[in-house]
Amino acid sequence: MCGIVGILGRGAVAGSLVDALRRLEYRGYDSAGIATLEAGHLTRRRASGKLRNLELRLAQEPLGGAVGIGHTRWATHGKATENNAHPHASAKVAVVHNGIIENFRQLRDELRAKGHIFSSDTDSEVIAHLVTQGLNEGFAPVDAVAASLPRLKGAFAFAMIFEGEENLLVGASKGAPLAVGFGEGERSGEMFLGSDALALAPFTDTIAYLEDGDFVALTHEAASFKDAAGLPVERRRIKTPASAFLIDKGNHRHFMAKEIYEQPEVVGRTLAHYLDMSAGRVALPFDLPVDAARLSRLTICGCGTAYIAGLMAKYWFERFALLPVDVEIASEFRYRDPPLDAGGLTILVSQSGETADTLAALRCAKAKGQKVLSIVNVASSTMARESDVVAPTLAGPEIGVASTKAFTCQLAVFAALALAIGRARGAIDGETEARLVSDLMAIPGLMAQALKCESAVEALARDIAKVRDVLYLGRGTSYPLALEGALKLKEISYIHAEGYAAGELKHGPIALVDGDMPVIVIAPTDAVIEKTVSNMQEVAARGGRLILIGDEALSHDFAGEAAASIVMPNVAPDFAALIYAVPIQLIAYHTAVVMGKDADQPRNLAKSVTVE
Ligand code: AGP
Repeated sequence: MCGIVGILGRGAVAGSLVDALRRLEYRGYDSAGIATLEAGHLTRRRASGKLRNLELRLAQEPLGGAVGIGHTRWATHGKATENNAHPHASAKVAVVHNGIIENFRQLRDELRAKGHIFSSDTDSEVIAHLVTQGLNEGFAPVDAVAASLPRLKGAFAFAMIFEGEENLLVGASKGAPLAVGFGEGERSGEMFLGSDALALAPFTDTIAYLEDGDFVALTHEAASFKDAAGLPVERRRIKTPASAFLIDKGNHRHFMAKEIYEQPEVVGRTLAHYLDMSAGRVALPFDLPVDAARLSRLTICGCGTAYIAGLMAKYWFERFALLPVDVEIASEFRYRDPPLDAGGLTILVSQSGETADTLAALRCAKAKGQKVLSIVNVASSTMARESDVVAPTLAGPEIGVASTKAFTCQLAVFAALALAIGRARGAIDGETEARLVSDLMAIPGLMAQALKCESAVEALARDIAKVRDVLYLGRGTSYPLALEGALKLKEISYIHAEGYAAGELKHGPIALVDGDMPVIVIAPTDAVIEKTVSNMQEVAARGGRLILIGDEALSHDFAGEAAASIVMPNVAPDFAALIYAVPIQLIAYHTAVVMGKDADQPRNLAKSVTVE
């Protein structure tokens, strides 16, 4: 949920720390700060608000030093003030932390009794004082860290520097990711720590991830890893493509807009990874970890938009694989202690691969003997590393907090999995598979056509921006899409929105219908369109403000009743949701822009929720 970085450099590191934090801002942006050893002394610069405030601070008060740490924060404990901004420090230690120290109050009381003075409201500050206590008791820095780690309960990844220690950078990880970067070439001997490979991409593409419970002492000469038992270990170095990814907005105003427009390309790239397009059949790039023919049911877990992708997949697994599916909100699943068949299959879906609740659900399913397959967008993520099989979405880095291209790539992977499992179970024959694969192959082109609705959406957004509440309706796979449209709108425009199964309208929500509240109906011409049309007429009959997302024919039929229509290309009904995701994303984006909201970094949110 926060981004951390550390650099043991050869020259001044302040600028590089800020560069890395800029690539980590998607993880949180309530406040930011760096600390370096300036002439051997710990010195900090911190600022509340976004990273640019720290940059302004550093322009006024530059910071030297060749070893340093940095942090961009999503507040868990303590308001988003400068005083609560990381790095936190004692006279001897500075630390940046991602995670939650669950026993921080007990530790803080214990340390206060030993004379430590705390200056923030955060849990993270106890780490600095706990290690300082070790130093006060005569431990060397690395030993003081080793002695402190068992005292910390909860999830953490931290980077730490020490007063007077110009050739030392320490990192530790337990339940939150931390990567070591190894400088090469002109950067040989430089060492890095970062929350992910993306943060380190400007410096190196050779990284090693700490395993759970590890800590590492970095010097210009070596990286000394120790495991949870304190024993020396080696961690595998990997090459990452992160440096290959251009992290810029191109000619778009926001990352979210760029990522919406990337969808035809990245969905096409993802589909190509799972389909044999020339043979017109599914060709998974891996073996399923179970015998699909013997599966009695399937569990899918995720959070937020990823959970909604799972809801959508349920329709496809049931229709094409005749497989019962339980779709679970991960934070509920793990505490319900659900009965699961040993040897069954649980699919976890997560863009970041680091969402704490989904990761915990993965571990819960594994503990119950399930095989776990993760659909993730970050191949080096914790979920990927702990899964039996990884099904990657090839969306490329998704920087906008609101998930767009990752969502449609998740749907593409789910669709391919449903067809593959359907074939393995004999639920669909080769001819049906070929037809459905052909429908999938048409999707990138249809998404590109759907993007042409943008000018109509911009006009609609000016109206939506004035309202307080919006209702989204859909049937079949358009129902999860109604949920997603509501989530997108509320998370970036802060307008209250609800998604509802259209058939449920008359069971309560119809009481909301009046001339003010927009009712956005997602209505591809599919098997239930007649029922959806009835719901639209129920809205119109009550003077409701009906907004239709549908094809030309339907828009024509409702020209008199609909307040606005967003026209979609004619699409095969089974996978229409991938195309109809485009207008609901654009509605949320343009409404936020009209309202002057920050579409990429909405208030209170972070891209990856790595705490419960
Ligand atoms: C989606 O737009 C939100 N940013 C949020 O609901 C997100 O989908 C959720 O936090 C799950 O994240 P993940 O896919 O990285 O696990």
